Amino acid sequence: MDAAAYVRWFRRSCPYIHAHRGRTFVVAFEGYALLDPAFPHLIHDLALLHGLGIRQVLVYGLRPQIEARLKARGLELRYFEGLRVTDAAALECVKEAAGQARLEIEALFSMGLADSPMAGVRIRVSSGNFVIAKPVGVREGVDFEYTGEVRRIDREGIVQHLDQGSVVLLAPIGYSPTGEVFNLSAEEVAVAAACALKADKLLILTESPCRTLSDPQPIPQLTCQEARALLEQGAFDAGVSRHVQAAVDAVQQGVGRVHLLDRHVDGALLLELFSRDGIGTLIAAEPFETLRPAALDDIPGILELIEPLEREGILVKRSREKLETAIGDFWVVVRDGLVVGCAALHAFPNARLGELACLALHPDYRGQGRGQRLLERIEEQARRQGLTGLFVLTTRASHWFLERGFQPASFADLPLERRQCINRKRNSKVLLKRL
Ligand SMILES: CC(C)(COP(=O)(O)OP(=O)(O)OC[C@H]1O[C@@H](n2cnc3c(N)ncnc32)[C@H](O)[C@@H]1OP(=O)(O)O)[C@@H](O)C(=O)NCCC(=O)NCCS
Repeated sequence: MDAAAYVRWFRRSCPYIHAHRGRTFVVAFEGYALLDPAFPHLIHDLALLHGLGIRQVLVYGLRPQIEARLKARGLELRYFEGLRVTDAAALECVKEAAGQARLEIEALFSMGLADSPMAGVRIRVSSGNFVIAKPVGVREGVDFEYTGEVRRIDREGIVQHLDQGSVVLLAPIGYSPTGEVFNLSAEEVAVAAACALKADKLLILTESPCRTLSDPQPIPQLTCQEARALLEQGAFDAGVSRHVQAAVDAVQQGVGRVHLLDRHVDGALLLELFSRDGIGTLIAAEPFETLRPAALDDIPGILELIEPLEREGILVKRSREKLETAIGDFWVVVRDGLVVGCAALHAFPNARLGELACLALHPDYRGQGRGQRLLERIEEQARRQGLTGLFVLTTRASHWFLERGFQPASFADLPLERRQCINRKRNSKVLLKRL
């Protein structure tokens, strides 16, 4: 990457750095990730997120580690209706595997060699009895013994450690008030922790991309409703179906967003969190992109969008103060928390006219009908306010408006109070559309 591209990339990640700082993310990965020679890269990326002020709870799975230990002892993990049965011998393997995984993860987080990405970093990792479990019990005559379910998450305990700046590490293990240890599913622990913490994001690193059986393309995003419909249709294989179900459960219980990421993609977490479209599957309650009235919180995003256009002279310069007073006139297109488009309707009720102002789309999102949708929304608002015409002053986009029903007009057609504050030097074209 040359210097200019590097600088551009770094600047582009700036809004995400701000957006993620101080947020709580739960990151879950399966035991296979731990066995991968590339696992240290994942830890380095997690350390980087920690450095950017993201509060993290990590949950690891242990399936291949447990299976290998059982095999070495000539035993095998028994399943009944998709759920594993943990007998006393299997529980020993679970404990051993969990201990070893914990030590390995802690060791990687402690790395600080001068030539490694962890140089100069000191990250504390906290583990503990944060997960309270209960036995699955006997089902249809089968005793699941030490296979458990999450009963409760010690939210306060985890929050205390996060507040102190530690990364919290959870094993797929829970403790019961009777003093017993239970083997849990890592995904269940991750969902329960994310729900208890009301995490901003749950990131599940998966063994394969999230796609349906009929389409090889990974799915970029799903609303909860769409995900449920696909689950009902049996559109996924068993593995993907399990992750999607976990995501739906988490979102329904208040987790902001769930991301399913193929862990085989190097830097999957960074690509997902610091680029506009990410690389994984986002599952959220709300649609990924919305067109809604702007709020004061959107002002930094609007400024970021319009400042380059102001510098080029395409839009008239607006100060932050001016934006604050007029924010009620603005509509924004928001994509994954970022403002990618905006437009304003300034009403002149006496003249029964409205001005469409500050229409702008981020360059990456032009040419896909968003400008048209913003225009339609502004027209609808103008009609609701009893306005009979919409005018626009433009220097570069006159044809865009002409193609959408605007007609050339003159300054004399504008409301008096607007005429008095026109910057004639801009030599803008006036266009008017009757509503
Ligand atoms: C003008 C703008 C808002 C259009 O948004 P958009 O989401 O790309 O618009 P749509 O997808 O609805 O329409 C795209 C069509 O408009 C055309 N178009 C884009 N900018 C245009 C312009 N300045 N003049 C004429 N046509 C234009 C595109 O070529 C495309 O047409 P095509 O599909 O036939 O090639 C966007 O290009 C933008 O933000 N431009 C910079 C700011 C600006 O000029 N704002 C107007 C200030 S008054």
